[in-house]
Amino acid sequence: MYYPYQITSMQQYQEAYKKSIEDPEGFWGAIAENFFWRKKWDKVLQWNFSEPKTEWFINAKLNITENCIDRHLATMADKPAIIWEPNNPEERTRTVTYARLHKRVCQFAQVLKNNGVKKGDRVCIYMGMVPELAYAVLGCARIGAIHSVVFGGFSAQSIADRLEDANVEYIVTCDGAYRGAKDIPLKSIIDDALIGNKTVKRVIVYTRTRTPISMIKGRDVWWEDEMLYAEEQLEKNGTLDFPAQEMDAEDPLFILYTSGSTGKPKGVVHSSAGYMLWTNYTFVNVFQYKPGDVFFCTADIGWITGHSYIVYGPLSAGATSLMFEGIPTWPDAGRFWDIVDKYKVNTLYTAPTAIRSLMSYGLDPIKGKDLSSLKVLGTVGEPINEEAWHWYDENIGKKKCPIVDTWWQTETGGILISNFAGITPSRPGWATLPMPGVQPLLLNEHGTPANDPEGENIASGNLCMAAPWPGIFRTTYGDHERYKSNYFAAYPGLYFTGDGALKDAEGFYRITGRVDDVLNVSGHRIGTAEVENAINMHAGVVESAVVGFPHDVKGQGIYAYVIMSHKHGDDEQSKKDILQTVTRVIGSIAKPDKIQFVNGLPKTRSGKIMRRILRKIAEGETKNLGDTTTLLDPGVVDEIQQGKL
Ligand code: WTA
Repeated sequence: MYYPYQITSMQQYQEAYKKSIEDPEGFWGAIAENFFWRKKWDKVLQWNFSEPKTEWFINAKLNITENCIDRHLATMADKPAIIWEPNNPEERTRTVTYARLHKRVCQFAQVLKNNGVKKGDRVCIYMGMVPELAYAVLGCARIGAIHSVVFGGFSAQSIADRLEDANVEYIVTCDGAYRGAKDIPLKSIIDDALIGNKTVKRVIVYTRTRTPISMIKGRDVWWEDEMLYAEEQLEKNGTLDFPAQEMDAEDPLFILYTSGSTGKPKGVVHSSAGYMLWTNYTFVNVFQYKPGDVFFCTADIGWITGHSYIVYGPLSAGATSLMFEGIPTWPDAGRFWDIVDKYKVNTLYTAPTAIRSLMSYGLDPIKGKDLSSLKVLGTVGEPINEEAWHWYDENIGKKKCPIVDTWWQTETGGILISNFAGITPSRPGWATLPMPGVQPLLLNEHGTPANDPEGENIASGNLCMAAPWPGIFRTTYGDHERYKSNYFAAYPGLYFTGDGALKDAEGFYRITGRVDDVLNVSGHRIGTAEVENAINMHAGVVESAVVGFPHDVKGQGIYAYVIMSHKHGDDEQSKKDILQTVTRVIGSIAKPDKIQFVNGLPKTRSGKIMRRILRKIAEGETKNLGDTTTLLDPGVVDEIQQGKL
């Protein structure tokens, strides 16, 4: 496959960028010609950020799976679409060709149909990183159902909330999942999530760990039985094809829940056509994909990075996507390097937290591993510190591989700011330049644009976007008002990202981190309000306040200040009880790293917690806590400082 829209020089980037801003409809209309449409659009773009409403490729019809699978069959049927590396390196690996992927996705679409799933229905997918997870996602897309993948680290309570929010009737899960030395009992967590649930009609269970599980008559069915039956049905039709549902360009493709500054995660909704275009275009350009490359994105499909750069981006480009079930440090810290060596990986896309964690094991795990196949390295999820950047560059890329620092969000669908590997300049710690069609703007807290930088001068402000790109999310599920108030109200007429950024005179951006009450722990987004709600559910807790603090490996750690009315046992036992409560309510990813018991929290006279002060104390600041004169009781600050962990 040839990519006429691949940018291959700085000059081409500049020209493309200019054209995309002056004539977005002409620019994206031409790119869209490279996809397979059942019917083309009447108009490329219609938008209004004050409503807010964005529509791309109006009245066009397509199915994303025909673009990710069917259109490759004529020339690439035997090419690996997915290479799967299991958790345990001793276990058999699997290579799924495009022909096999087509067959499995069609079979699974038939399974969904047999179980009553229709276009527009919501299907919750709670699985480990097995190829069947990709089949499930694509099977939903083929039949036009909206998938809502929930990461395997979330608790039963979190799943229950997500099932209710989207009125889910169907679930696809596994008996269990392997993650390093652990087995995670996914089906039993689903069983807990379904206590009291009245909407779920069917649970399809794929066998991975063969842990004993309960199978409820009339509700739970085995994946293997269903797939076999579907295969027989498709064979009877004389073709193994399951005709793809025709979708409108704007029909929702999926929901993915993410944390915000309120206590309740929101269901980010992505469209069919715009999302497809965006994941494909950014994949081909940022990573400078060349036919035949093996692309290894280490994320989990439970997060947006896995959706966009394990499934939709690479497959729509006809690439080979490597899917890894395990973790970077098991059975040892050489796992990634073994995989790169074994499959001759060309592009490695991972998170700064993984790099920092692997750095701490020194260079021994890299010794003897052939990393010479690597051409491009990428990072995503959080700002990368220079030390980690240089370690990655020197020891993994051997100073020969460009590193792309890709900034984006669940809401943006794909990468918005990044260098293009080997094409546009890179600079450690800087995401650098916007993609074509992306118009960043920095605003100060009063809503006025930060001055454009000149010479040594660097502008700083809150990062906004002035216009839509095709991959922008279209709403928050079931609550468009929330979409508006969360993202389009702080700066009317603009999309506000929640991040702060710097911009230099060359127009390069450096992302400095969240400016709202969202933490970024090991590249995962966690709202402080969500963690506080979970802590407050513990019986002895009166009140709590959660802030982030710098953490060597995780980027940010979670620091909780907790007031307890009564403790059952000593402080250590009480802390463990609180951690257990958070694990139950959200999942182990939200467990605080530090819990400090306090007698009071710094509050203003109107009762608002002064998090700024708590944040400074957690960061280890001892003197400059800022203005404390507006506090109701300035005395609590001394007490908190003395008890700092
Ligand atoms: C942060 C992940 C600095 C940022 C794709 C953003 C980054 C949040 C970078 C989104 C980067 C992501 N440099 N910060 N290259 N990439 N972030 O929704 O704060 O899980 O708002 O999407 O991660 O996290 P999310």
